[in-house]
Amino acid sequence: MRKKIVAGNWKLNKNKAESIELTSEIKEKIKGVLSTDSHEVILCPPFVHISNVVDLVKGSEGLKVGSQDCSLFEQGAYTGEVSAEILKSYNVSYAIIGHSERRNYFKEDGNVLSQKVTQAVKSQITPIFCCGELLNERESGSHFDIVQSQLEEGLFHLSETEIKNCVIAYEPVWAIGTGKTATPDEAQEMHKFIRGLVELKYGQEVANEFSVLYGGSCKPGNAKSLFNCLDIDGGLIGGASLNADDFVEIIKALGS
Ligand code: PGA
Repeated sequence: MRKKIVAGNWKLNKNKAESIELTSEIKEKIKGVLSTDSHEVILCPPFVHISNVVDLVKGSEGLKVGSQDCSLFEQGAYTGEVSAEILKSYNVSYAIIGHSERRNYFKEDGNVLSQKVTQAVKSQITPIFCCGELLNERESGSHFDIVQSQLEEGLFHLSETEIKNCVIAYEPVWAIGTGKTATPDEAQEMHKFIRGLVELKYGQEVANEFSVLYGGSCKPGNAKSLFNCLDIDGGLIGGASLNADDFVEIIKALGS
């Protein structure tokens, strides 16, 4: 089912007490806001907070927990890694995979990301697969090609059944944490293109049911105009997800 989703990517923020406080505040403030089965709100804290956050959101309809990454390995001697299977055992429902910060700082390429996606899917965790171009790529007009190859390399190896349990987040890198947002027209144009690629590969039915999120300086002030676009099914929120009031305002912008 095509869901309307807001996911909060906390990145490397919040200590233990702060993560508990933020989760509790969000849980309180979204009461009565998530009106239908087709809404989902996902909190993606740092790995070590996952267990606490899962416990805190238990019983809150439509509130789920995601990780910010998962290992490309299943198990074994891989110091520091956390597998999809371990995450699943903590009731993690989603995993952000291929965020531009992982691609940039940790040199994760299409090959690595496709293996992470495979691990997540194998453990019944829904990948939130991120794609998006750099500023110079947009300026040179290659943004569609870049996004297409990111999806082909990292995600489109999945079967039709597997892709149905995935979400794509389009995050133009030049808009992440910069305060510079893609205009609704720019975002809609790319989201339509992405849905078209899903349709080309997996057919119309899959494409129509697929959720494509926007990320990059999405805030209470601009969320509604973005989410109102035909092919934008919600947002992946960084900075504004660290404040409960802002985050809940963004959730409200999903509408009913
Ligand atoms: P931002 O980050 O909302 O702070 O721009 C979005 C993201 O990186 O997912």
